[in-house]
Amino acid sequence: MSASGTEVASGRETGKNTVPGPVLLLGAPGVGKGTQAKELVKLWGVPQISTGDLLRANVAQGTPLGRAAKEIMERGDLVPDSLVDDMVAVRLGQPDTARGYILDGFPRTLVQASWLDSRVAAQTGALAVVAVDIYLNYNELLRRITGRRNCPVCQAIYNVYANPPQREGFCDVEGAALIQRADDTEQVFEERMRAYQELTAPVVEHYREQGRFAEVDGNRPIAAITAGIVAAVDLLRRAA
Ligand code: AP5
Ligand code: MG
Repeated sequence: MSASGTEVASGRETGKNTVPGPVLLLGAPGVGKGTQAKELVKLWGVPQISTGDLLRANVAQGTPLGRAAKEIMERGDLVPDSLVDDMVAVRLGQPDTARGYILDGFPRTLVQASWLDSRVAAQTGALAVVAVDIYLNYNELLRRITGRRNCPVCQAIYNVYANPPQREGFCDVEGAALIQRADDTEQVFEERMRAYQELTAPVVEHYREQGRFAEVDGNRPIAAITAGIVAAVDLLRRAA
């Protein structure tokens, strides 16, 4: 990656020519998966599939899945694999995933990873999964979680410390009053980190061992991290 900006202007470095295929964004709670996924959607023109967002939408609508997931999410534990896999299967069946998709927050267990790997392998002509792990230290994760605010209308993500809206408490795009997620407390964050270490860290190792894997430092400005992910995916796709 050039620091001068010269290479950044080319199609390869901006990712505009990349057919991304299935891209997994891995990383701890609050590391910036959702923020990065939204940037990549703009660059690649493929959908973000956030299992957290899909589950929160089910909770808000009071569906049977939402009713089953609500308390589990509020205490920071993981929703059962079969429920999440079924939800992802429905989403992956939609036609906008044909050129690829950005999975944000899935897979989160080895069972989910194995389900996804089998599903992608069974698809004729599908590109293999590539995984990008974003890493960040505990204190900065906690700061990002406790400072986060979300727009309930357009799902834009803000941070009172690092990325505040122009008008305090209101979305720049929608003007809607921003909300704080029910699980964005220090206490629930600790439980989410425990679940992450126990169940999701092995998923990171699984994809590291598979080889189509990159790590990106999350302790940088948003645009620098996006550029790092784009360069990594481009490299992994050319090597495949
Ligand atoms: P989910 O919604 O996926 O939560 P998470 O993994 O804990 O991740 P977050 O959404 O909290 O963080 P993020 O990495 O997206 O960070 P963001 O971009 O918002 O899951 C919630 C729950 O649903 C789970 O606990 C579980 O119960 C259930 N669930 C979901 N998926 C599941 C699955 N597969 N299996 C089972 N259960 C599942 O950024 C965070 C903050 O940092 C923001 O304020 C942002 O503005 C700021 N920020 C971002 N980037 C930067 C930067 N570079 N510099 C400074 N600030 C930044
Ligand atoms: Mg998220």
